[in-house]
Amino acid sequence: MRVMLLGSGGREHALAWCFSKSPQCERLLCLPGNPGIAVLENCTCVEGSAEDLESVLRSVREQRPDLVVVGPEAPLVAGLADRLLDAGVTVLGPTRAGAQLEGSKAFAKEIMRESGIPTAAFESFADAAAARSFLQAHPGRWVVKADGLAAGKGVFPCDGVSEAVAAVSRLMEERAFGVAGARVVIEEYLEGEEASCIALTDGSHVVMLPFSQDHKRALDGDRGPNTGGMGAYSPAPVADEALAQLVRQQVFSPLLSALRRRGIEYRGFLYAGLMITQGAPRVLEFNVRLGDPETQALLPRLESDLLPLVYAAATGTLAGANLACSPRASVCVVLASRGYPGPYEKGLPITGLQSAQALPDTFVFHAGTRRERGQWLTAGGRVLGVTALGDDIPAAVAAAYRAVAAIEFSGKTYRRDIAHRALRR
Ligand code: AMP
Ligand code: GLY
Repeated sequence: MRVMLLGSGGREHALAWCFSKSPQCERLLCLPGNPGIAVLENCTCVEGSAEDLESVLRSVREQRPDLVVVGPEAPLVAGLADRLLDAGVTVLGPTRAGAQLEGSKAFAKEIMRESGIPTAAFESFADAAAARSFLQAHPGRWVVKADGLAAGKGVFPCDGVSEAVAAVSRLMEERAFGVAGARVVIEEYLEGEEASCIALTDGSHVVMLPFSQDHKRALDGDRGPNTGGMGAYSPAPVADEALAQLVRQQVFSPLLSALRRRGIEYRGFLYAGLMITQGAPRVLEFNVRLGDPETQALLPRLESDLLPLVYAAATGTLAGANLACSPRASVCVVLASRGYPGPYEKGLPITGLQSAQALPDTFVFHAGTRRERGQWLTAGGRVLGVTALGDDIPAAVAAAYRAVAAIEFSGKTYRRDIAHRALRR
């Protein structure tokens, strides 16, 4: 089949790598893709932007893919899947209504409350004065969240009333994240260990991927500013088969039923960000896509061909499907530009990619690179995701850092403690 993949990051490189080696993939088109994707066999990068709905529709009309897979959330929240479905195109990724699970935290929380999905207690507010009165009447530890999309930056864990009130003002009055802060969710601060659980669904049936964990903070020891992710690993030792069953029964099943009651048939990847406390999961957030960098750690563990499963989810035929996964562990270390997530320099030569890729069980995914006259250059904050498999987490960590050492660019920045929570166990 002809597959079109939308997006340009490390997540999309991992997906493209996975699809391009599928016997069912006749041709892979990536819009816009990236230079790492462009060198994959069977693969062509198509100009355009996944965020520009009109350009996507135009390319789809020209290229006539049998399946479109949407990587990032923004086009889904903007209604891209609806437009493609109207045009008779098979698409993996929820419609605008389903994408509200990520596009509106208030919507996600309401649906969780309604269907008894375990999550932090919360209130949502469209009025800053009402939010402030609530906080003053209920002193405690709260997390203040912008309702809308804020690239992972609209969440403020607060230590007391004054911090929480300040977060409300920043979001609702200063509009630090624009309309995303027109409404806020104020929720109970949860303690525990975080893990990500990603499922593939056709709206009724669920295939769960293995658990993974990511590192959002820039610096070792989970300090420093939040980033798009500095590394990830899978499996997550905090999660076992019993937890997977709980998440299936307490989260995915009731969620899909609640969506169907609203007339939403959710077809896509569904990501539950969880807080695990004494073996019990509570949902921190839903994303309507695969996580990044989690995907870069997860996909190398898959033994099944992902493409037929993705097609089955997109066509509502996922019943009875299974995903076989290697028991080996996987670790992804992100190489970033010096300064990221703040300002950074671009255009710096990268060396050692080939020697890193030649190491056994090692995968180098591109997120922010450029190719000029045969030379690889940095072109983004997150530059590469370096993944390695190993028999257990310590072996995978050692292998990933061996590959990291083989790659050089000026300002190469990375965390040296990826998977530390797993290593401590
Ligand atoms: P979210 O985008 O909602 O997942 O929030 C981003 C990060 O903020 C999460 O990965 C957690 O580290 C933290 N966080 C969110 N909600 C809570 C909560 N209720 N309690 C504690 N930490 C939270
Ligand atoms: N790694 C978290 C996310 O993709 O949102």
